[in-house]
Amino acid sequence: MTPTPCDLDSEKRQAALKATEFVHDGMVVGLGTGTTSKHLILALGERVRAGLTIQAVPTSHDTATLAKQSGIPLIESDNAWMIDVAIDGADQVDPALNLVKGGGGALLKEKIVAAAAKRFIVMVDHTKLVPALGGSFPLPIEVVPFGWGSTARHIEAVSGGRAVLRQRNGDVFQTEAGHVILDLHMPHIGDPAALEIELNQIPGIVETGLFIGRTSILIVGRGQGTDVTHAPKP
Ligand code: A5P
Repeated sequence: MTPTPCDLDSEKRQAALKATEFVHDGMVVGLGTGTTSKHLILALGERVRAGLTIQAVPTSHDTATLAKQSGIPLIESDNAWMIDVAIDGADQVDPALNLVKGGGGALLKEKIVAAAAKRFIVMVDHTKLVPALGGSFPLPIEVVPFGWGSTARHIEAVSGGRAVLRQRNGDVFQTEAGHVILDLHMPHIGDPAALEIELNQIPGIVETGLFIGRTSILIVGRGQGTDVTHAPKP
């Protein structure tokens, strides 16, 4: 039976509730962006109101707003991070726990926060699990607006895919950092690590939505409970 949006939201919530179990007193927590992260923030807010003492680093303005409303103290300084755990959603997860992220356009801050954290926990509903990245979900790539068309042609040349400028409500989508997003359509991404390296050499690319080897723990929401997978130690 095809899962309804309501089923999937319930799976996201289950995964988010499970993720809160990895948050303890005194921790600095990186807060992701998206619908799954909203569940996380609301649940952490409840725990903060019940006495949990944490500080958080948000990955978007939306997340910062919701965290503040939920009573979660934020670290305002950009140079004093010691992030114990970052927790975020994902658009796709492959069997090696590599990710595609950036469907909401927050990939740049999400990647900076994930990279700064001692552990990175990913929460998803079961539909995000894929045998290979790409295909049904294009890879978001954040690029500077200057010369974006030229950057897109370079991306297409190295990937063999089609790079489409993201629009929202008829306008060009702009990220919080003032960049634009190219959504790269590929039938599948055969070697995500190699593609990330190739893309990072193209002038104009700020960051890609490929998260390779960054996941510490994957939590998949299910109809009944959650599946938790720990990445093997490097
Ligand atoms: C935001 O840019 C994305 O990386 C999100 O983390 C990702 O799209 C997952 O979103 P949902 O939790 O809404 O599925």
